[in-house]
Amino acid sequence: MERRDFLRLAVAGAALVGAPHTSRAATGRIDVLVNEPIGAIGADLYGHFCEHLGGVVYDGIWVGEGSSVPNTQGIRQAVIDGMRKLPKGAIRWPGGCFADSYDWRDGTGPREQRPRRTNFWAGGTGGDAVSKSKYDPNHFGSVDFVRFCRLIGSEPYLAANLRSLPARDFYQWVEYCNSPAGTTSLADLRARDGEKDPLKVRYWGVGNESWGCGGDFTAEEYAVEFRRFTSWVPGFDTRLAFVASGPSSGDLNWTRGFFSKLTEKGAGMIGRVHGFALHHYTENLGFGDPARNDWNERKGSAIEFSPMEWYEILKESDRMEDLIASHWAVIGEFDRQRRVKLFVDEWGTWYKAGTEAKPNHLLGQQSTMRDAVVAAHTLNTFHKHVDKVAMANIAQLVNNLQSLFIADGDKCFTTPTYHVFDLYGPHVGGQSVRTVLSTPAIGYQRPKNTGSVFGLSGSASVKDKTLTLTVANPHFSEAQEIEIAVRGAVSGPVKGAQITAPEIHAHNTFAQPNTIVIKDATVGAVQNGLLVHRFPPASVTRLQLTLA
Ligand code: AHR
Repeated sequence: MERRDFLRLAVAGAALVGAPHTSRAATGRIDVLVNEPIGAIGADLYGHFCEHLGGVVYDGIWVGEGSSVPNTQGIRQAVIDGMRKLPKGAIRWPGGCFADSYDWRDGTGPREQRPRRTNFWAGGTGGDAVSKSKYDPNHFGSVDFVRFCRLIGSEPYLAANLRSLPARDFYQWVEYCNSPAGTTSLADLRARDGEKDPLKVRYWGVGNESWGCGGDFTAEEYAVEFRRFTSWVPGFDTRLAFVASGPSSGDLNWTRGFFSKLTEKGAGMIGRVHGFALHHYTENLGFGDPARNDWNERKGSAIEFSPMEWYEILKESDRMEDLIASHWAVIGEFDRQRRVKLFVDEWGTWYKAGTEAKPNHLLGQQSTMRDAVVAAHTLNTFHKHVDKVAMANIAQLVNNLQSLFIADGDKCFTTPTYHVFDLYGPHVGGQSVRTVLSTPAIGYQRPKNTGSVFGLSGSASVKDKTLTLTVANPHFSEAQEIEIAVRGAVSGPVKGAQITAPEIHAHNTFAQPNTIVIKDATVGAVQNGLLVHRFPPASVTRLQLTLA
């Protein structure tokens, strides 16, 4: 599409709020309402997900204790070091779909004697690549996963098998992890695996996508299973937090059906659900055309895309807002006291195969500036709904969908998405505050109609006297000059940092790992509570101001 077509399609945005403009060139405005807190931003909004799938665990995280690849306790050092710089969000393991085929006992005992199993994803490589993902050696077990979490300071979040193991195996996994040293045979087994003291695992997912790969249950059938699996699970010294398998994207019937059946036994059953998992992937390039709605066919390339596909992916990522609001409303019909929180424990972009670092990295893909903007916008959305969303886990950490790391042998680099997590770090521990963005939406031409996408994305938080504002400019070719009004912001310098790319398809590679990284941004000063800032095209920016 020609640039002039974009301009022609640009639609008028919402009316600007607040004080009149002081900058003639300003195309929009952000009002940060520091006196309107939404809730505290916890590190778990910056959670992760790693599954026994392709190159995520083997090659990605686990290289083995005897490896020539630098490691601590068999875990890739570059991933440990990279993760230590980020917010310490909980990490979910071992799946995903894999979870409902996994027997945790396979990952115990002397490593070389552990069973080798056909992986859940064995049939899913779509080719003849000799994939380690097809066969799981089980060298990486529960103890290794918890060590990985401890090395980086994150909480472990285990996903239990509800489809193919009985409830007994679930509570025995809890016993293996959490029973006090020397009290049970399973605690002794854990000690032989290297951890005498309890692992204190708090978060337990009860199945995964139980509407699909997790057993093809109806919502009502799953609710009955959930009640049974969570009955009388010993807590030991750790207060367990169960996470129920929630819907795929916008399936409100699943949410209503689950809570309705769960509470048939009594309203108190709500107390069993700490988190309700929501999964949503940004992947649909069907452009609203029913003829282009096949799950595989509708996906595009991770690195070769038109401006139209750039915008359509951003528009798809914006569905998160409605998904949170709509499922939250349904949960509220049953949970009047608002005890249940949403866990968006799988989110991210999903493209077609072809950009994975190695053929056996099933679902591996590259990550460009487009993914950075998706990550920024999604995190801004979570901040806005921090009263509803307690945890979010991007899929998946290494060598997979919207990964933060791509690794192969002794090589490893961080993706633009990693740098967004880094850039957003100062939000953690702050109070998310209401942030009103007034910018025109961006219009674009689709194959059979026109689309429009948010004109700017932003969120703000206050920690001590520092206000952190993060903004993504989704316009692929135009900068936006924005007036930012912050009541109570003292005059003075503003710290700025940003992620930009030489062009929108740019990405980091093993040969050029620093094409997209965080750089300092030049920012003006606050004058009378107003700051004017020019956000580069296709960028993510962090501004930090001091409050009075
Ligand atoms: O993240 C890849 C897969 O997507 C997960 O295994 C599954 O839960 C989801 O459908």
